[in-house]
Amino acid sequence: MDSPTSHRPIVHPYQRHAPGTQPDFLYEPYRSTVARSPRKPLIFLPHTLSETTGPVYGHDEVAEADHDLTRQHSGEPLGERIIVSGRVVDSNGRPVPSALVEIWQANAAGRYFHSKDQHPAPLDPNFTGAGRALTDQSGGYRFVTIKPGPYPWLNHYNAWRPAHIHFSIFGRAFLTRLVTQMYFPGDPLFAFDPIFQSVPDEKARQRMISRFDLETTQPQWATGYKFDIVLRGEEATRFET
Ligand SMILES: [Fe+2]
Repeated sequence: MDSPTSHRPIVHPYQRHAPGTQPDFLYEPYRSTVARSPRKPLIFLPHTLSETTGPVYGHDEVAEADHDLTRQHSGEPLGERIIVSGRVVDSNGRPVPSALVEIWQANAAGRYFHSKDQHPAPLDPNFTGAGRALTDQSGGYRFVTIKPGPYPWLNHYNAWRPAHIHFSIFGRAFLTRLVTQMYFPGDPLFAFDPIFQSVPDEKARQRMISRFDLETTQPQWATGYKFDIVLRGEEATRFET
């Protein structure tokens, strides 16, 4: 007779992030973290089926045109048209197909299409600034958009964010969700930005910066940037023994 537990699925937990690789929850120069960071030590819960599986997306719900932020209105948005592409891989370097990649960003003038952004830069009636795509079998994704402008924020006196695109990536499990920001090479605001600087590791900071890529560029039409994303991998012991 089967034991009551014999049909339980085997759960393969994910590796915890290595110490020092993620921004601290509390980083005082980034003022919002002071109020929202935990005050007590974290309690690590075991990874169960709920964390190591799902979400599932209907492919029909992500339309092919969703990856092109320049075609969501009747006219073309103003600014520098760019192509942003890359691959989503896990921490073992394997491609992550069917990952949902969502982006949101300010327009070329550095203004978000959002009621809370009221700083004196123009909105663009032809640019909302949000898109999404599913990765292909090789983990590849591609967006067409407008290069966002830097914008002021109220973190401290004369605070400006470097130009960036927000990314959310859902891999095969809820625990593989990654929310990050993509920056552009050579931005003079890096040294003054507490959000960028809150990432402690210099190499990790560099990985948040896209690279200009002539291959991605399309002649007479758009410049191109590459941005590869590494999600957490499944703990790999069983593959390496
Ligand atoms: Fe932003």
